[in-house]
Amino acid sequence: MTKATAVAHPNIAFVKYWGRIDDDLNLPANPSLSMNLAALRTVTTVEFRPELRSDRIVIDGAPASGQAARRVMLHLDRVRAMAGLKGWAQVVSRNDFPAGTGLASSSSAFAALSAAGSQAAGLALDERSLSRLARLGSGSACRSVPAGFCLWQGKHDETSWACQVAPPDHWALHDVIAIVSRTPKSVSSGEGHSLAPTSPFYQARLQTIPELLEQVHRAVVDRDLDALGRAMERDALAMHGVMMTSQPSLLYWRPETLVVLDAVRAWRSEGLAVYFTLDAGPNVHCLCRGSDVADVGARLRDLPGVVDVLVSGPGAGVRLVVDHLF
Ligand code: DP6
Repeated sequence: MTKATAVAHPNIAFVKYWGRIDDDLNLPANPSLSMNLAALRTVTTVEFRPELRSDRIVIDGAPASGQAARRVMLHLDRVRAMAGLKGWAQVVSRNDFPAGTGLASSSSAFAALSAAGSQAAGLALDERSLSRLARLGSGSACRSVPAGFCLWQGKHDETSWACQVAPPDHWALHDVIAIVSRTPKSVSSGEGHSLAPTSPFYQARLQTIPELLEQVHRAVVDRDLDALGRAMERDALAMHGVMMTSQPSLLYWRPETLVVLDAVRAWRSEGLAVYFTLDAGPNVHCLCRGSDVADVGARLRDLPGVVDVLVSGPGAGVRLVVDHLF
């Protein structure tokens, strides 16, 4: 058996995935469109070793336990089933950004695990099959498989995967991320997806998606930040509206989150082209042109409650590398 290592980037969705039509297969209730984040990385090494008596998983320097370990083992079971392989695996994974804070660590985690795991198991999967496999681990992970700007659609297991809309060098769009909290969220996005249909606004949001998706898709192709930003903010707020009105209610925002949203709108009214979106967490992704990154970053750092600022342009897709973690 060979050892394999893969690098993947998390992605930020401009049209969000929130709610599923199949919980086991991670089939989304709506299509979504995202950008990979070059500056944030997960590196994962996998090796199947006959002498092991169970899967051994180390994430960010500590043995994985609980739900995190179970999700990885379940994913390794999928790889073993595809390859007709018996035997346990050693997995070592490292993020260079804080996990569980709405920075979509599960997207890069399962993209990297799928690529390294399938290669280590002797499978040679094409991009589409890899995207489908990654989706089974974490829905948004399928969008971290292709490079750049990616669209995930499809209502069935065989057809639900992400494809590239534009390569990373198509547009020097930047995500300037205002970190207001590093505390892992108490309700996972997995649980949130299941709660989504309990919101009276769930269906209403889904009805807005075809139009928003078309606007976002066109805006990416045309490199039109204002059109992208308008549609992206609408969908982020609609998704958080669904979260807040689910039963039980999910409130991922912190007071500092609102400070950032308010500031972004004020800066825009002064003529600075910057728009926000948020995942299932309190941190705010501020999208702007490359030429405005320094300005937006400096303004965010000055806001009360912003503890860090991360900056990223569009990133590559998942790929195998030769430097192993063990
Ligand atoms: C709010 O992909 O984390 O980030 O399939 O349970 O792993 P699982 O969910 P996940 O959900 C992501 C939700 C989101 C929006 C998005 O990235 O589209």
